Amino acid sequence: MATKEEIIQERLPRHIAVIMDGNGRWAKKRGNQRIFGHRSGVKSVRETVEAAAELGVSYLTLYAFSRENWSRPSHEIDALMNLLVSTVNRETKTLMDNNIQLLTIGDVKGLPGKVQDKIAEAIDKTSSNTGLKLVLALNYSGRWELKEAMRQFGEDYKAGRISQDMDEQTLKYYLTTPHIPDPDLLIRTSGEARLSNFLLWQMAYTELYFTEVLWPDFRKENLYEAIINYQSRERRFGKTSDQVVRNKTKNNAPQYG
Ligand code: IPE
Ligand code: IPE
Ligand code: MG
Repeated sequence: MATKEEIIQERLPRHIAVIMDGNGRWAKKRGNQRIFGHRSGVKSVRETVEAAAELGVSYLTLYAFSRENWSRPSHEIDALMNLLVSTVNRETKTLMDNNIQLLTIGDVKGLPGKVQDKIAEAIDKTSSNTGLKLVLALNYSGRWELKEAMRQFGEDYKAGRISQDMDEQTLKYYLTTPHIPDPDLLIRTSGEARLSNFLLWQMAYTELYFTEVLWPDFRKENLYEAIINYQSRERRFGKTSDQVVRNKTKNNAPQYG
């Protein structure tokens, strides 16, 4: 099992993104309903958030509900929304105790009112915290985000609110993550090796880590293992390996863009 001590502090990923997958299969294996898996996954969320905060990671983004997840049976969606409310309710104290600030990305306005209210309350309560920034991706999809950015840019351009041409910096500003650095490391659990519409723009140069572990089994040690694996990689951003070795910057993150 990986230990915290094996992690090189100077090369900690600044931003870790997680696709928390495999709750349904975890429950099914135990002869239980899918929602049992979602409920059990809350402990993994707590462990991951705590571990990231303890290590000194700056941003942790968790994919909690995709726009495509609306296609699931309505009873599962209802249960997930209720779980979201109760979890945010219960865990706000954990966030306060660990100096964690809560943020969201995604079409939060498309969520049920009670979820919106609870999230807004927690965002407000944690807004002065200066430690880890915990970003919940809710009703999020990468294509939706890019489409919205283009739409908003077009509106602003037509109305004369903006005059510059579209470039990478401008597009970044219109995304849901203008002040969040791109993820250094993506972790996806449950053995699936795909992005499922997550942070498509932002993950251009993210290191991808796939593990067979199902999300409800994911513990601090699994996060350590992913970080240690990340730290063994060479990030080249288009350069040659020789160039990278010569210009090695701190935190395993050579400059890009
Ligand atoms: C991830 O687990 C949680 C959400 C997508 C909300 P799944 O519910 O996708 O579990 P599997 O992939 O069916 O096992
Ligand atoms: C991705 O998981 C979305 C979240 C974890 C919230 P899914 O289980 O929905 O992804 P697919 O459908 O298997 O690609
Ligand atoms: Mg899944």
